[in-house]
Amino acid sequence: ITDPLVLFMPSGKRGRFPVGTPILDAARQLGVYVESVCGGRATCGRCQIEVQEGNFAKHKIVSSNDHISPKGPKEERYERVRGLPEGRRLSCSATIAGDLVIDVPQDTVINAQVVRKAATDRVIERNAAVQLCYVELEEPDMHKPLGDLDRLKVALEKDWGWKDLLVAPHLIPQVQKILRTKLPDQPEVSPGKWGVTAVVHRDMDSSRPFIIGLFPGLKNEAYGIACDIGSTTIAMHLVSLLSGRIAASSGTSNPQIRFGEDLMSRVSYVMMNPDGREAMTKAVREAVNSLIGKVCEEGQANREDIFDCVFVANPIMHHLFLGIDPTELGQAPFALAVSGALQFWAHEIDIEVNRGARLYTLPCIAGHVGADAAGATLSEGPYRQDKMMLLVDVGTNAEIVLGNRNRVVAASSPTGPAFEGAEISSGQRAAPGAIERVRIDPETLEPKYRVIGTDKWSDEEGFEEESWTTGVTGICGSAIIEVVAEMYLSGIISEDGVVDGTLMAKSPRIIPNGRTFSYLLREGRQGEPRITVTQNDIRAIQLAKAALYAGVKLLMEKQGVETVDTIRFAGAFGSFIDPKYAMVLGLIPDCVLSEVKAVGNAAGTGALMALLNRDHRREIEQEVGRIEKIETALEPHFQQLFINAMALPNKVDPFPQLAE
Ligand code: FES
Repeated sequence: ITDPLVLFMPSGKRGRFPVGTPILDAARQLGVYVESVCGGRATCGRCQIEVQEGNFAKHKIVSSNDHISPKGPKEERYERVRGLPEGRRLSCSATIAGDLVIDVPQDTVINAQVVRKAATDRVIERNAAVQLCYVELEEPDMHKPLGDLDRLKVALEKDWGWKDLLVAPHLIPQVQKILRTKLPDQPEVSPGKWGVTAVVHRDMDSSRPFIIGLFPGLKNEAYGIACDIGSTTIAMHLVSLLSGRIAASSGTSNPQIRFGEDLMSRVSYVMMNPDGREAMTKAVREAVNSLIGKVCEEGQANREDIFDCVFVANPIMHHLFLGIDPTELGQAPFALAVSGALQFWAHEIDIEVNRGARLYTLPCIAGHVGADAAGATLSEGPYRQDKMMLLVDVGTNAEIVLGNRNRVVAASSPTGPAFEGAEISSGQRAAPGAIERVRIDPETLEPKYRVIGTDKWSDEEGFEEESWTTGVTGICGSAIIEVVAEMYLSGIISEDGVVDGTLMAKSPRIIPNGRTFSYLLREGRQGEPRITVTQNDIRAIQLAKAALYAGVKLLMEKQGVETVDTIRFAGAFGSFIDPKYAMVLGLIPDCVLSEVKAVGNAAGTGALMALLNRDHRREIEQEVGRIEKIETALEPHFQQLFINAMALPNKVDPFPQLAE
């Protein structure tokens, strides 16, 4: 008789095992990740699985609850003391009795909550760098003079296979006290058992694993943070490293804004002020620490339970956060002080989490293409597929990655802050009161718009104030793209972006402004600003979009392709712009519209992946090594591409998708 067949979902891994094999052992043998803290003592409850009943046709596995052993005394005790959700079993106790389909619950599903308008729900398989390992030590014995710490290492090797463990220095003086502490609220850890939980961390290189934390009794939770430090916003996820559950996600503005609005002005600040670098480093670390406080409060966690931190950032933010002078990044050849991934103790850069917590930063791709672009690349994975994928993260600097399985190239392009509403006469950041969507009637040239904080389209008369009372205050980035595109589509501006003054005869919305003309989007009521789109505004958008497009086009030329198969917009800006308008403006190359997707904070998602699965760290480190970096400033051809891209949508490139 052949052994029963066991299939694990969602990984699809399967194998045959003798009757009586604990399901946890079968999972381990197949490389299916199932968490365990207590080492199979049926006390931590982390190894829960579900049996999928029914006929799993494709693999001819008939699975039923009779094919798994009934609950034994240990599992029953766990259920009595801690409770076990309906249908769940402890895989360390339950054994195989027949063919089985086992569902390993995955709590980390990246979905719309985390990634706005995410392309698909995605599961991050866990293989965290941190592992909690419960062990029971032998009691000290006068005849065996082995130290407490050494007996701990013996137990960790025996039960968990850890060899050559190092110990975080701060723990050494505490070991004896921790080993002798008995917790009254842990009935599972009976008195006389020297039960402790070690927090073991494995870095990426071949270095030895470290004991970074030690707790009396059974410690059953460990958290990590994944953080993206942007020049405007710092975003963070707090994640349970044991279940993969995202406990909280939050953001705060980067306090470095008071030293300079954009990246280059912050570099100038460092160059001009002797204490500038230090002040900015301190400001960003304080903001990170208070954001940790915020996510811990929201996620009902303790910052002392955070043991691993992953950071991504653009190169200048990366350097300032690490305390490195970014001056070299302000001028050619834009030399990074360090481009590779880094790992060290979090407390070394004043991050207020557990004293033993480790910190990892993703590698930077180039002087202007940072660890944030590496995070987005890890998240979207152009190198994992055959399709030619264009990945753009639009900020004051657009970071552009283009490639597929065979080859990936990257560059940055100086778009300036126009897309964020700066340098635009009525521009503002996305906030209640900002116009976010615009349509212009091609016959009458009358506009309709939607304002953040309302969900209705309105015009000048029809606008109703909602409970918020700020009135209509300006235009945010997404609406700037739309209004310029709509002005082009309705014939108000020419292909070269010039406002047609002769239309004054047709519509009172076209108004003179010195020697040029503006479009009056909204007259405004008392106390509200008059909102116009000036010739200068249109010029600023043209310059920004031409910089982005020329960068994209350069990479397409390097790849030898005329079109791209799929486009991913990362970052907040991308979440709000309509792909159609981005294409009308010629911000992005021609592409099937359904293949243009906004992926939200992909850099943060990449950080999350690296936090939850250490294999992803190796993966992105290898990929970044393979990515070819293109410096747009050094390409003689770039200027011509830029000039061609000033026209709407472009002087030379066709946009067949727009014709449809
Ligand atoms: Fe801890 Fe199963 S491994 S309860």
